[in-house]
Amino acid sequence: MLHVYKLSCWLALVLPFSSGSGKEKKLLLVSFDGFRWDYVNRVPTPNFDALMREGVQVDRVENIYVTKTLPNHYTLVTGLYAENHGIVGNEMYDPIFNMSFSMEGEGFYESRWWEEAVPLWVTNQKAGGRSGAAMWPGSDVEIGGTYPVRYLPYNASVPFETRVEKLIHWFLEQEPIDFGVLYWEEPDESGHRFGPESSQLDDVIADIDEKLGFLRNELKKNRLYDDVDLIVTSDHGMTQLFSEKIIQLDSYVKPDLYTWIDKSPVVGILPKEGYFDEVYSSLLDANPNMMVYKKEDVPEHFHYKHNIRIMPILLEAKEGWSIVKNRSGDFMLGNHGYDSSLTSMHPVFIARGPAFRKGYNKDSMRSVDLYPLMCHILGLQPLANNGSLANVQDLLSERSDKDSTPRPYIPARPTEPSYAWALGSLLGAALVVSFLLVFVRQVTLQQLPALALHNREISQPLLQEELRL
Ligand SMILES: *[C@@H]1O[C@H](CO)[C@@H](O)[C@H](O)[C@H]1NC(C)=O
Ligand SMILES: *[C@@H]1O[C@H](CO)[C@@H](O)[C@H](O)[C@H]1NC(C)=O
Ligand SMILES: *[C@@H]1O[C@H](CO)[C@@H](O)[C@H](O)[C@H]1NC(C)=O
Ligand SMILES: *[C@@H]1O[C@H](CO)[C@@H](O)[C@H](O)[C@H]1NC(C)=O
Repeated sequence: MLHVYKLSCWLALVLPFSSGSGKEKKLLLVSFDGFRWDYVNRVPTPNFDALMREGVQVDRVENIYVTKTLPNHYTLVTGLYAENHGIVGNEMYDPIFNMSFSMEGEGFYESRWWEEAVPLWVTNQKAGGRSGAAMWPGSDVEIGGTYPVRYLPYNASVPFETRVEKLIHWFLEQEPIDFGVLYWEEPDESGHRFGPESSQLDDVIADIDEKLGFLRNELKKNRLYDDVDLIVTSDHGMTQLFSEKIIQLDSYVKPDLYTWIDKSPVVGILPKEGYFDEVYSSLLDANPNMMVYKKEDVPEHFHYKHNIRIMPILLEAKEGWSIVKNRSGDFMLGNHGYDSSLTSMHPVFIARGPAFRKGYNKDSMRSVDLYPLMCHILGLQPLANNGSLANVQDLLSERSDKDSTPRPYIPARPTEPSYAWALGSLLGAALVVSFLLVFVRQVTLQQLPALALHNREISQPLLQEELRL
């Protein structure tokens, strides 16, 4: 009787550990470009709602200046302000390289633009993890001598569903990824074209909710839903533009006196040599809806001055205003890039999974705090960054805090070893071993479809080939 008692005590201690240890950490970070924080409140979004119930929701994410796509996506995976990670705009000029960079192509695949920082997918791999990336900006660029072990070369025409299916395959491969990043171009594109207040955008948001539903279903179908820590967020929000709110630079300064870098609403001005004073004084006070900063006078809280890729003069339009050279260009109905303290610029944030609390709501967080949070979930030592885990610790379930450094359970030695104890231990060990055997068999059976999938994949020539879909 005593033996049985001791045995069950021991099993009770060992079993929870055994069943937990089969589950490796899995983290999936998803960005829907330009998904403003309040979009979840304007049309029914049953899939977003379900994630909020099952996990945590932060009403608004305070993102970084400039509130554009590349700078903010790089912040999400580095925890650094733009002046520190070096991707200071969607378009840049580096006076030392004497080269330009553009999201649309020029210089984009040159590593040196990206290497002022190290993104999480690289750090994860250097620590022995495996990362997979489906179109996340910069994830198909060689950074620090490496690529994610699995990634898709950027191609905007690849459907969302295909991106999801790839990631799921990678999470189920024999050597699975443990960190995945997924990017989708909407609702940013439609937000620019129709404006955030348009009825067309309602349909786009409903469509994104369905896409999120597809992702949830695929995770469930493949028995990943309860193991994956899923984070859904974005790079920035969007605000409505007005055709009468136009600032025309050609009315204030001769166009041949400067080059402009990056687009409205925040424009870097590089005056031709010897013309700094003339350009600056022509622009200063030119238009009450445009701030004009010397680089060294950019407000501290933007953390946007200590980088040579930030131009000597910075123009910033007030919300809703556009900066153009003249009226010949295209006109958009929505834009972002403005002051990062405007709530219209703030993205959504929802997360669920074993690491997160359930049904918890928080008012706001800073996007730089996501990086230390993800490092914590993955059990990685974060590199120097501008975030703080303490600011977002309340999002985590207690379980995940205790499990952050998993260690095998070692039963304490009883003070008086006895025959009964030895027999109990032996029986216990036998039971644990047979339990483990059954458990391993169960897990293997569960993963059979995944293995079949994997075999099909490796029988295909090359990942890149496979992607010409
Ligand atoms: C920068 O490159 C341009 C050509 O793209 C060249 O005309 C110019 O002289 C270069 N400037 C410097 C400082 O090297
Ligand atoms: C208007 O500005 C564009 C650049 O935005 C320039 O290419 C074009 O020549 C300008 N047109 C006139 C009439 O100045
Ligand atoms: C942001 O982090 C970097 C890297 O640790 C550091 O050099 C920089 O000073 C930080 N910026 C601020 C405003 O703390
Ligand atoms: C991009 O994806 C589309 C759709 O899957 C495909 O038709 C096209 O060939 C791809 N382009 C490149 C350059 O791979």
